[in-house]
Amino acid sequence: MHIGTVISTANTPSTEKFYFVLTENASVKKGQLVTVKTEEGNLIARVSDVIKTNPYFEKADSVREFERSGKSLSDLFPSERWEYLVGEAVPLGVYNDSGEMQRSFIPPSPGEKVYLACDEALFKFFGLDENGLMVGKILHHDVPVKINMTRLLQKHFAILAMSGAGKSYLTTVVIEELLDRRDELGKVGVVVVDTHGEYVGFAEDEKYMHKTKIVRGSEFKMGVPSLSPQLFAEFIPQMSAVQKRELARLFAYVLEEKMGKPFDLRDLMEKLENDRIIKKVDTRNILYTYLSELNSTGLFGYYDNPPLSELSRQGELTIIDVSDLTSLKEKQMIVSYLGRKLFEARRMDRIPPTVFIIEEAHNYAPEGVKKESAISRGIIEIIAREGRKFHLSLCLISQRPINLSTTALSQCNTHIILRVTNPYDLDHIGKTSEGITRDVLKTISSLQVGEALIVGEAVNYPLFMRVRKRRSVKAERGIPLEEAAIAYAQKRANASSDAKAFM
Ligand SMILES: Nc1ncnc2c1ncn2[C@@H]1O[C@H](COP(=O)(O)OP(=O)(O)OP(=O)(O)O)[C@@H](O)[C@H]1O
Ligand SMILES: [Mg+2]
Repeated sequence: MHIGTVISTANTPSTEKFYFVLTENASVKKGQLVTVKTEEGNLIARVSDVIKTNPYFEKADSVREFERSGKSLSDLFPSERWEYLVGEAVPLGVYNDSGEMQRSFIPPSPGEKVYLACDEALFKFFGLDENGLMVGKILHHDVPVKINMTRLLQKHFAILAMSGAGKSYLTTVVIEELLDRRDELGKVGVVVVDTHGEYVGFAEDEKYMHKTKIVRGSEFKMGVPSLSPQLFAEFIPQMSAVQKRELARLFAYVLEEKMGKPFDLRDLMEKLENDRIIKKVDTRNILYTYLSELNSTGLFGYYDNPPLSELSRQGELTIIDVSDLTSLKEKQMIVSYLGRKLFEARRMDRIPPTVFIIEEAHNYAPEGVKKESAISRGIIEIIAREGRKFHLSLCLISQRPINLSTTALSQCNTHIILRVTNPYDLDHIGKTSEGITRDVLKTISSLQVGEALIVGEAVNYPLFMRVRKRRSVKAERGIPLEEAAIAYAQKRANASSDAKAFM
């Protein structure tokens, strides 16, 4: 659809910006995508602003003079007819007739016709894929955003936005797409660290319940025989070198003695009590205290729960719901163990290619805090650096990207960014996400809930989209404040009428 014509101004058209005047009755919205022919091919540009102008109202003094006379300009002149719209557009790139995409090096010529970009062209231009994950539509266009799964997952991705912008909602949509994928297109296993118990809705939904397994934090178990001295050192960071050595010796001893039979921390503690090799009583006592502290978390047992066979299954979802735990340290221990297990199992090809989704990732891989308060950071950074070789992808979700490990974040080659208004966060995102121009950065703060920007590996060019509606039922826990308040009042009323009836 022809909507306007490129005009010539002092510094435009340039490769960075051009203006076009809209034809009569045509309209265009800020954010829409338009196309213009250039020598290189079809240039696609994003409308960064729309300006209304009218030569009759250009001169402040004459407008004021007319106002004073009690008349309006439009009474005397056909000023309305002279109102027109000018669009400001930022070129994104060009595609030629053979479908090749590239950056644009030549501006469009003044006088060139501007069209609303057609759906097929946009689909190709952004590198979308018919068999991709359908997460929404291009903002202002009726084009499905179907992201190629390999491009999204091969090199990790991050979902970043302020609280309430729709990160978990989008993640739900991505999970639905992964679970609904047809066999012949290749399916991955999905493992979610669910910090607030937001994903348990999958287990309540008829369509997904048979593909979903929930393990509550309180049921999560680390099989002690499969722990390593290194992991002990990570869980008890304050251990001295001597204590580490003694614990490793003791562990190896029990492992040998049990000859493949399961044992837990209590067995280790018993061995420690009766050990005669440790000379210093202090060392023994301290180690005993450390082990009993670990044991009191309830996270250790004879066997792993979930067992490896249930950890990650093709086209299925495993939710590790840690919302019932209050200790951050315990949650980090779970993520650390889980991460190592997934990494090892993927390396040995014992589980399918897997996406490891971590909600509130800044809690598990915090930047700038001591190792002791960041037990799980090490393994998250290892997966970030090396996971791609073994098809273990990370999805890091955070509302505090500044507090998230830069090592981990820098390995996320696709960023999906929803609304962010905090200037520090915006600045950080501008620096860490590739391909974000100042103009795009400005738009991020004006996004509505459920609108997102995709930048990086998964798409050819930064793409604004509206996230589609979810298909799965929402978990009860996420109900709006009003509903929660009403439900609470009702519960209290029922309780008091029950009490009265009883009297
Ligand atoms: N695409 C969308 N369509 C409709 N509603 C949405 C969409 N995205 C988010 N919402 C609604 O907005 C609210 C906040 O969304 P969500 O819980 O996903 O935010 P969040 O970014 O994960 O927040 P937090 O940082 O607190 O976890 C929810 O009630 C959700 O239903
Ligand atoms: Mg959330």
